[in-house]
Amino acid sequence: AYVVTEGCIRCRYTDCVEVCPTDCFRAGPNFLVIDPDECIDCAVCVPECPADAIASAEDIADDQRSFVELNASLSKQWPVIMSRQAPLPDADDWKGVRDKLRHLVA
Ligand code: SF4
Ligand code: F3S
Repeated sequence: AYVVTEGCIRCRYTDCVEVCPTDCFRAGPNFLVIDPDECIDCAVCVPECPADAIASAEDIADDQRSFVELNASLSKQWPVIMSRQAPLPDADDWKGVRDKLRHLVA
């Protein structure tokens, strides 16, 4: 499955949800996750993300590996999102910032 990683936190651009053929994105307050049971590994969401936040679980950076489990668990708690919403107000300021995991609102 594909995984939403740290880059999404406090940005949440939501361009990704528009292209997913299986509607596997789930929305939290300042982050999105992918339900690994629904993802068909098509990869069309990857280039849509302005923050480059989506990666394959098989090919994920070591420092992002905890996001595999986070996507799996949070996707069972958060509601489906199928259409684009406005990015978070200061999304552009948080784009590319490192170590955002502590800002995640779950
Ligand atoms: Fe959806 Fe395809 Fe992205 Fe998986 S890889 S989340 S199926 S768009
Ligand atoms: Fe997040 Fe990128 Fe989608 S910032 S909401 S993974 S477009």
